[in-house]
Amino acid sequence: MHGSDGGGGGAGAGSRVAWPTDGLSFGGDYSPEQWPWEVVLDDMRLMREAGVTLVTLGVFSWVVHEPREGVFDFTWIDRMLDLLHENGIAVDLATPTAAVPMWLHRLHPEILPHDELGHPLAPGGRLGFCPSSPTFRRFALRIVEALAEHVAGHPAVRMWHVGNELGGGNARCHCPVSNEAFRRWVEARHGSVDALNTAWGMAFWGNSYSSFDEVTTPSGVTAHNPGQLLDYERFSSDALLECYRTEKAVLKRVTPELPVTTNFMVGLGPDVVDYARWAPEVDIAANDHYTYGPDPLRHQELAFSGDRMRGISGGGPWMLMEHAAGAASWHPINQPKAPGEMIRHAIAHLARGSDSVMFFQWRASRSGTEQFHSAMLPHAGPSSRRFAEITRLGRHLEALREVRGSVVVGARVALLHDDEAGWALKSGLKPINRPDYAATARAIHTALFERGVTVDVVPAWHPLEAYDLVVVPGLFLVSDADADAVRRFAEAGGTVLVTWFSGIVDVSNTVRTGGYPGAFRELLGVRGEEFSPLTDEQTIELSTGWRARRWAEVVSPVDAGTEVIASYRVGGAVDSGPPGEGAGGAAVPGGFGGVVADGVDGGLAVSRRPVGAGAAWYLASDLEPEGLGELLERLLDESGVRPAAAASAGVEVVRRAAGESSWLFAINHGVVEGWVEATGVDLLSGTAWEGRGVVPAGGVAVVREE
Ligand code: GLA
Ligand code: GLA
Repeated sequence: MHGSDGGGGGAGAGSRVAWPTDGLSFGGDYSPEQWPWEVVLDDMRLMREAGVTLVTLGVFSWVVHEPREGVFDFTWIDRMLDLLHENGIAVDLATPTAAVPMWLHRLHPEILPHDELGHPLAPGGRLGFCPSSPTFRRFALRIVEALAEHVAGHPAVRMWHVGNELGGGNARCHCPVSNEAFRRWVEARHGSVDALNTAWGMAFWGNSYSSFDEVTTPSGVTAHNPGQLLDYERFSSDALLECYRTEKAVLKRVTPELPVTTNFMVGLGPDVVDYARWAPEVDIAANDHYTYGPDPLRHQELAFSGDRMRGISGGGPWMLMEHAAGAASWHPINQPKAPGEMIRHAIAHLARGSDSVMFFQWRASRSGTEQFHSAMLPHAGPSSRRFAEITRLGRHLEALREVRGSVVVGARVALLHDDEAGWALKSGLKPINRPDYAATARAIHTALFERGVTVDVVPAWHPLEAYDLVVVPGLFLVSDADADAVRRFAEAGGTVLVTWFSGIVDVSNTVRTGGYPGAFRELLGVRGEEFSPLTDEQTIELSTGWRARRWAEVVSPVDAGTEVIASYRVGGAVDSGPPGEGAGGAAVPGGFGGVVADGVDGGLAVSRRPVGAGAAWYLASDLEPEGLGELLERLLDESGVRPAAAASAGVEVVRRAAGESSWLFAINHGVVEGWVEATGVDLLSGTAWEGRGVVPAGGVAVVREE
């Protein structure tokens, strides 16, 4: 009845759901309860001027709907829904459960989450509840049901937004309720105490349990068991998912016609919850994405997150639920977006498969924690560069409405990325105790991004048949089944690249013995015996001239077919540390005076093994960008992967398609004019492109291809 033509794809098992707006959705979080009525009326005029089509309403409005325990008052929401509807603006209505009312904190102080040291957090802020608290859940589901019953059938309401960023602040609780819930979760997963002791290896340090009642959350300052730490991450993700599921069940019962989502915080990973495993539970996968101003590669980080959203949402389209119009306010230093950057970022999200451009928030707050966070309508008001750009963006999105419902095409590269692997990496002591799970994935993604190659960043269990090249970057934990799928992919003719510290542990965070890299050893035809990580000052040169840092290992070819592509050059180790602590900039024959183990010098650094109709490559070190780029060019060549379109350096290119139509997105992140090969019409400028088009410095184009 509400909604539109149902063109969008759902995240859940291929379900088709009604997208909330006819065209691309444009708008943001809207908190009119913070403003007097005359400002709200002004908002309507300015939203129409900017072309806003959707707002997320009521995210923190619990105390407005239920000002006192059990007393409901929906006059404000009625008034807002009517007003927005009269102005042609659709509503993504939030359940208000991220904002625990102060009266509930007073009635039930025990619902507050407890930190690692067992201290309760303070009331105030948001998400002030233990995810496992039955008391909180009883109150939460009561307001959700009352709100849903009240607004059911209102034509402005097009979708549900459950809570807000579940786990953003309360993701790891150590209160007594969480401890009990963890015990029961562990019991359900492991079945018997013996199985649990084996899985976690509790014989080490004599930690074996005699009963599940002895299990606790890994709180305090003890050096906890890696298996316990990993399972606690899984438990915490599941507890938050249960919060979402229970609300969703109420919403589906009362308003079955409305799509239900919640805003993910998909970044580089590992994230606080396992979004890939959550994704089947949302009708439309939605993400909040914030760049970090000083990061010179922030547009690439944005692309990584977009490729990940697509990878976990079954190909999309997905929804950009929040990003910033300018500066955030939680970093130590918060830099605004440069002129044009906000539009480039918005179009880049669309290019990666979003069908919406939404912001936090519509109007900049005067008070409250985020009073200096940027907004679509800044403190300066509508007469501002920011609002002028927002209005320009609104016109762009109107010009692009035909793109809605199309999907990104041409991704022949899969990059396997899994939160569980990232969690396992930071659980317990390792050869390097500054885990940066996403670093290798991001370096490889950057190299492919710069070459215009479209990549799907997918969970480790994602089907691989559609790809030509599969990259396995530092997948520390892998299940037997997922490792086997990678082997079968290579046998069937695919090219695989596995990088260092992959396949080391199983799903219990237990080391796979017999030689590294455990799960991939046979596929790669190599066998490693020892790791030899480098200090920040140390680098190693390879026989190919490539330079590597961070990591080396003692690894040898063990299969007749394994070809050594690059080895550590004898004497290629350099320590540029201060004199007295290392070689002081000189190459040191034989390694770093014993720091790098014998056997690394001259040993295997990059290998290739033919496997069935395909091949498996191993990268045993962390190549600097130039060498990594050259290696990837060889792999792209071997697997026949081409860029989305030929383009000049600095121009991002991605293609979306639906049926017979296709659109090439071109975003020039550079400071000089660029070009892209395409034929068609740029929908943003109206210019016809014949074979090639120009993208001005900092500019964007979306070409409907002929
Ligand atoms: C100490 C302890 C051992 C072991 C080693 C290595 O020597 O006595 O049990 O923990 O450190 O960490
Ligand atoms: C998150 C939240 C918003 C807001 C923004 C900006 O994405 O969901 O409520 O706090 O960050 O900080």
